[in-house]
Amino acid sequence: HRHLLGIEALRPDEITTLLDLADQYVTLNRLPDKHADALVGLTQINMFFENSTRTQASFEIAGKRLGADVMNMAMQASSVKKGETLIDTALTLNAMHPDLLVVRHPHSGAVDLLAQKVNCAVLNAGDGRHEHPTQALLDALTIRRAKGRLHRLSVAICGDIAHSRVARSNILLLGKMENRLRLIGPPTLMPAGIAEFGVEVFDDMQEGLKDVDVVMMLRLQKERMDGGFIPSEREYYHRYGLDEDKLRSAKPDAIVMHPGPMNRGVEIDGTLADDINRSVIQDQVEMGVAVRMAAMDLLAQNLRLTRGAA
Ligand code: CP
Repeated sequence: HRHLLGIEALRPDEITTLLDLADQYVTLNRLPDKHADALVGLTQINMFFENSTRTQASFEIAGKRLGADVMNMAMQASSVKKGETLIDTALTLNAMHPDLLVVRHPHSGAVDLLAQKVNCAVLNAGDGRHEHPTQALLDALTIRRAKGRLHRLSVAICGDIAHSRVARSNILLLGKMENRLRLIGPPTLMPAGIAEFGVEVFDDMQEGLKDVDVVMMLRLQKERMDGGFIPSEREYYHRYGLDEDKLRSAKPDAIVMHPGPMNRGVEIDGTLADDINRSVIQDQVEMGVAVRMAAMDLLAQNLRLTRGAA
């Protein structure tokens, strides 16, 4: 592939190859000297049109550990504020010959559009409600390491499914790897036609969590609710917030995940989120660096092959 725009375009064997390479980078990242040379000589530009802590920091660290020249565009201070369009911004940066563009944008499809206009590799760091492929890949690596496999698991994705690119990418990835998927949340936060994706839908946590191996919580994304129904946080926590009591329905060794940033006391109990016997939330962050290193390494290999052949 020239770009990483979504999970939709990836085959199961490609996902496995990327996760195998990411496993090697997990080992490297735990050494005192974390450097490798896969991206030496290449320029990586991070363009985040929407806020981020984990994704932006880990893409920057990933690029630096692999030897790339990394630049973070401060989009709030850029000429976007003067009205320059996404495409003009991309073409301007493209003229500076970057090799890797990492892009987050609030509009679904914006990153795909941008990828058509530039001649470097583009990585989608989250576009609207569409996809967040590196999040799904880091979640997959976390699950594979915790459970020893990434197939025939029962996985519950809970909460605000309708606004979540994380849910969408995870549904695609976990489905391709032949897992059983259960979506749990209020009907108002469930996308129309979701059952066509071969998932089971529940609006009761205890029922939906029954005997699952993995519990994936999602953030209630109030900023994407554009004036529509916004549940009261207290009521939401009571019905859909994950706590010890609801978790008892899952398998005794079920792991608890959350992509972050989390609303403690809204979708998850803070003590449970911090319980390292159940929660793998900090592992997800660690896997994020390794997965982004692997994704950029593979795209750079392809870039070098294409340029060599030209
Ligand atoms: N999970 C995730 O994408 O977090 P950030 O928005 O902080 O990057």
